[in-house]
Amino acid sequence: MTSNYSKSTVFSSVISVIVVGILIRKRKNVLEYRQSLNDEVQQTLKTIDASNIPENAIYFLETSGLPMLSPKQLCAVESAALHHPNRPVVVAVKNEFLQLPIVLKSWSERYPNVMFINLDIVQWLNGTILLPWLSKNLLDKSPFKTAQSSNALRYATLFKYGGLYLDTDVIVMRPMDDLVNAVGLYATNGINNAVMAFEKHHPYIEACLKDVSAKFNPKKWGSNGPDLLTRVINTFCNFNKTNLLKPGYCKGIRILDISDLKIQYLASITRQTIKK
Ligand SMILES: *[C@@H]1O[C@H](CO)[C@@H](O)[C@H](O)[C@H]1NC(C)=O
Ligand SMILES: *[C@@H]1O[C@H](CO)[C@@H](O)[C@H](O)[C@H]1NC(C)=O
Repeated sequence: MTSNYSKSTVFSSVISVIVVGILIRKRKNVLEYRQSLNDEVQQTLKTIDASNIPENAIYFLETSGLPMLSPKQLCAVESAALHHPNRPVVVAVKNEFLQLPIVLKSWSERYPNVMFINLDIVQWLNGTILLPWLSKNLLDKSPFKTAQSSNALRYATLFKYGGLYLDTDVIVMRPMDDLVNAVGLYATNGINNAVMAFEKHHPYIEACLKDVSAKFNPKKWGSNGPDLLTRVINTFCNFNKTNLLKPGYCKGIRILDISDLKIQYLASITRQTIKK
C-alpha cells in the first residue's frame, strides 16, 4: 500500500513538473512572439506591373495609407495563406513601405504564396471603366476616401483578375476554393462586400463598375459599397417585391446567407452597418 501510494505520488509529481514545464515554455513562446511583434523591419513594397499580378488569387487591399498592418490584419492574411498553400495571396497596400513585425521574415519560407505589393491606383484601375472615372477626381472630394476607394478597387480587382476578395478582418478557417461567383447576403436583404468570389470579367461585377462610374456619390458613405452591390444585383437578377433577393442562385451567382458563409468558411466577419 505505502509503496503504491508513494509510486502514485512520484508519478503525479512528475506529471506536474511536465505540465508546469509545458506551461512555462508556452508562456515563453507567447512572450517571444509578443516581443518579436514589437521588433519591426521596414519593407519597401514593389509596384508590380499590372500584367504581372496573378489571376484568380486571394486579394486583400489596404487603402488607408498607413505604413503598417495590425496584428489582426496580419492574422487575416496568414489564415488565408495557410488554408490556400497553392493559391497566391496578394496584399496590395497603398503606402510605399510597410513596418512589419520581424516574425514575418519567416513568412517567406512558411507562406511563399503571400506577396505584399504597392498598390498603384492608376495601374490597378487601368483596363476598367474606372480609370476615366478616377481622373474626374471625385474620390478626392470624399470624406470617406479610404472606404470608397477600397470599394471601387475591389470590384476592379475581381473584374480584371478574378478570384477571391477578402476584407482584412476576415479570418479564414477552411479552403474557400469552391467559392466561385458567390456573395454573402445580410439578414436585412443587402449584399455584403467583405467576401466576394468571381471569375474575371463577370457581367455582375462589370455592372458594378458601371454603377460606380455613373452614380458615385462622394458624400454618401455606402454609395458604392453594400448599397451598390444590392442595387445592382436587384437589377441584374430581376429581384422585386414578389421575387425577393434571398439565399440561392441567380444567373449563376451563388447568394449565401452571411451566417452560412461564416459557418462554412470563416471565424470572423464584420457586420458592417450602413451609415446613412
Ligand atoms: C494602361 O495600360 C496600357 C496597356 O498595358 C498602357 O499602354 C497604358 O500606358 C496604361 N495607362 C496608364 C495610365 O497607366
Ligand atoms: C417581379 O419579378 C418577377 C420575375 O422576374 C416577374 O414575373 C414579376 O412580374 C415582377 N413583379 C413586379 C411587381 O415587378
